[in-house]
Amino acid sequence: MFWKDKYKLGVALIDKEHEELFRRVEAFMKTLRSNESWGDKVHEVNETLEFMKVYVVEHFSHEEAYQKKIGYPGLEDHKKKHDEMVEYVVGVSDQYEKSGFDQQLMQQFGGRLLAWLVNHVAVEDQRIASYAIDKGVANDEN
Ligand SMILES: [Fe+2]
Repeated sequence: MFWKDKYKLGVALIDKEHEELFRRVEAFMKTLRSNESWGDKVHEVNETLEFMKVYVVEHFSHEEAYQKKIGYPGLEDHKKKHDEMVEYVVGVSDQYEKSGFDQQLMQQFGGRLLAWLVNHVAVEDQRIASYAIDKGVANDEN
């Protein structure tokens, strides 16, 4: 499992979404690395990509709303990181469609997506949790 309980922020909705993102990315990596032919797995890969494009945007908006609610001072910087990620995902997706579903492109994307997710959730998002604890607003039911 890529997901670890220590990644929790203590905010039920956000933790649930993070866990789902990890679960999806893990399944995505497994599919990408499997021995099946590209033709056999391309449908599943495309479905995951479409899911990501929608889910990531929704999740980021929930996370930003929470940051705003607790007055997190790093919101603007954090939002910039989210926006860059959305831009990256949309850009890769466009390139991927134009290439006629190029396998190499998705292999590279899978690795980057996982690296980004782990770093972002384990480092950037944890800063939100630390702030909430310091300010004593961590358990204000969100
Ligand atoms: Fe975030």
